Amino acid sequence: MIIIKNSTEIEKMRRAGKLAAQLLNHIEPYVKEGVSTIYLNDLCAVFTKLHGAVSAPLNYGGFPKSICTSINNVVCHGIPSEKDVLRNGDIVNVDVTVILDGFHGDTSRTFIIGEVEKSISDFVERSEKAMYMGIDAVKPGKYLYEVGKTIEKYIGEFGYSIVRDYTGHGIGEKFHEDPQVFHHFTKANRIPVKKGMIFTIEPMINMGSSYKVNTSRTDGWTVTTSDGSLSAQFEHTILVCEDGAEILTEV
Ligand code: MF3
Ligand code: CO
Ligand code: CO
Repeated sequence: MIIIKNSTEIEKMRRAGKLAAQLLNHIEPYVKEGVSTIYLNDLCAVFTKLHGAVSAPLNYGGFPKSICTSINNVVCHGIPSEKDVLRNGDIVNVDVTVILDGFHGDTSRTFIIGEVEKSISDFVERSEKAMYMGIDAVKPGKYLYEVGKTIEKYIGEFGYSIVRDYTGHGIGEKFHEDPQVFHHFTKANRIPVKKGMIFTIEPMINMGSSYKVNTSRTDGWTVTTSDGSLSAQFEHTILVCEDGAEILTEV
């Protein structure tokens, strides 16, 4: 069941989204060589608490930390650790979700640590562009599959692949609500987009040609590319308006 949010709920989602965006901006200067992902986690936990909010990932389905940090071939759900120290040439996705006044704001970015080859910076930039193209494909009256169709058309030309096992999602009082938002074209998303829907768009793009992923048998969370290639992701929470999407996870 897809929930259409009313104006009170929308206002609360705007506040939660803004806080999530502020949180990513707050840690940005610390996402640098020599910094451990647990340090980023702790910064996020403190900032979130200080702003009267709760870190949604902590204990969500048993997830052990407050944010997800996914380095290089890690697709998503990387667990922050003191052992994971960022190094020159890494790419890292930091995914934050806050609960403010009962409502969720969910956003992520992939950061480049130091210097990388042009092929890698191009890949990260194109992953971000894919997300924005998906967002621009959202309009009331259109089908939701326009999001995946648009992203697939753009990403296909580079030989990259789009992860299928993880999707965008409705979001509100619950972290993950209906609908699932696929980032590749599928008739499963032949769902009319309606004003007042709120969902995330968060394509995970693998630099290699395989969209296949594996989940760690050790920690039960860390998702990696099956072929070992890099994976990048950007995420925004959006509200469907009269004439398109309003990005809620922006300051
Ligand atoms: N933030 C992720 C998303 O975009 C979900 C993380 S779930 C967790 O949907 F349990 F790993 F935190
Ligand atoms: Co999400
Ligand atoms: Co997220």
